[in-house]
Amino acid sequence: MSSHRPGTVTDAAAASAHARSVTQAVLARRAHEPGALLPVLHEVQEALGHVPRGVVQQIADGLNLSRAEVHGVITYYHYFRSEPPGRHVVQVCRAEACKAMGADALLAHAQDRLGCTVHAGHGARSVDGSFTLAPVFCLGLCASSPAIVIDDRLHARMTPARFDALIGQLGATP
Ligand code: FES
Repeated sequence: MSSHRPGTVTDAAAASAHARSVTQAVLARRAHEPGALLPVLHEVQEALGHVPRGVVQQIADGLNLSRAEVHGVITYYHYFRSEPPGRHVVQVCRAEACKAMGADALLAHAQDRLGCTVHAGHGARSVDGSFTLAPVFCLGLCASSPAIVIDDRLHARMTPARFDALIGQLGATP
């Protein structure tokens, strides 16, 4: 097992008492399980909407891992977020079938429409906090691609015009 080091002052300041308490409760339930890191990260994100940078060391300590190991998993899986999501979360599939049906152009359109710039495959939040836009890899709707998810709702055969209509229905102005 890898070594670990104590949390930094910056991390301690960044983590709210609530986030630390939620994380502690998740660790208390899960830490004994083999391969607990992914379930812990999923539960923390489910409870807090993201995995705050300030609890990364706490998770590492709780699972006897290094901070780098935990950070590496968070950044490897695009699903995990280090910042709170926008009020609406839009995911655009970029896997093969959707790419073949114009997913890249659709993602570019979504970035313009929502004011979010996706970097290195990771999600991004609009400046006003209305939206988080994130690429994902296969939503199981390959036969009806390109596919997207808006606030946990799947939408198939997406076009820029349909996208704009759906976003307009949310009543949010990017
Ligand atoms: S490739 Fe996009 S839903 Fe499967």
